[in-house]
Amino acid sequence: MRFDLALDPKDLQGLVDSIHQLHGYDFRGYTPHSLQRRFQFVMRRWGIPTFATLRDRILHETGFFHEILGHLTVTTSEMFRDPDFYRALVQEVLPRLATYPSPKIWHAGCSSGEEVYSLAILLREANLLQNTIIYATDINPTALGKARAGVYPTATIQKATENYRLIHPDGDFARHYVANYGMAAIDRRLRDHIVFAEHNLVTDSVFSETQLVLCRNVLIYFDVALRERVLKLFDESLCHRGFLAIGMKESLQFSLLGPAYVEVVAQSRIYQKRISCSQQKY
Ligand SMILES: C[S@@+](CC[C@H](N)C(=O)[O-])C[C@H]1O[C@@H](n2cnc3c(N)ncnc32)[C@H](O)[C@@H]1O
Repeated sequence: MRFDLALDPKDLQGLVDSIHQLHGYDFRGYTPHSLQRRFQFVMRRWGIPTFATLRDRILHETGFFHEILGHLTVTTSEMFRDPDFYRALVQEVLPRLATYPSPKIWHAGCSSGEEVYSLAILLREANLLQNTIIYATDINPTALGKARAGVYPTATIQKATENYRLIHPDGDFARHYVANYGMAAIDRRLRDHIVFAEHNLVTDSVFSETQLVLCRNVLIYFDVALRERVLKLFDESLCHRGFLAIGMKESLQFSLLGPAYVEVVAQSRIYQKRISCSQQKY
């Protein structure tokens, strides 16, 4: 079977417009490169030979659209990815979160949960977890299902252990999970402090005031306008002097919001809000 893989950017734009109108999911601000890769993936995986067939199925088979929805975004994640980032978080942010009686954290684009559990483990080890609520959100219901389950192949736990040791050389990562038959189940008690919920950064609004917003490796898929919109959403959620953590390949440098934040640890992309929202001028 021949796959019509080089997709015309105009056709793709037309398709995402139609998806927005028909299904209410807005991918219009995703970069053309990201859209190209995701729709190509869907065509290969479902054996769809032409763009016309893809379009037809997406627009006329609601079940098919919901089946592929989970594949229209990249969900790659890893526990303690970028150990330097987590070390900076432990050293620079957690002590300041400890000054709040009940810190709230928004973990946006949490995918299958690896990062959320990494954070919960570090909060537990800093004796902060018992008073903290983590709102862990994502657009992708399949990934969120995996996050809620908190069960990962032990092969991935090996890499996580190496990363963890770079953050806490004397720590005991193994006490936070139970391994059996090639799978590791993350300690269920960590979940008591995490609220998992579907949330679309493109269309949904802020739901809580938070002291830390963590959103790593998500903005990278968005164009400039959507990135600005999402950063504004985070800014609205963050309290005065709240912290924002984004991915290593992301930055506030060219954002309108840049001047309203100070770099706490520049190379780890951790920022702190300088002034309260009401004082800001865009
Ligand atoms: C590459 S993963 C990053 C996961 C995790 N933050 C990490 O760095 O390991 C990107 C995540 O962003 C989510 N995402 C993409 N678009 C989104 C949107 N509009 N609203 C909420 N989440 C979105 C995807 O579903 C995916 O789970």
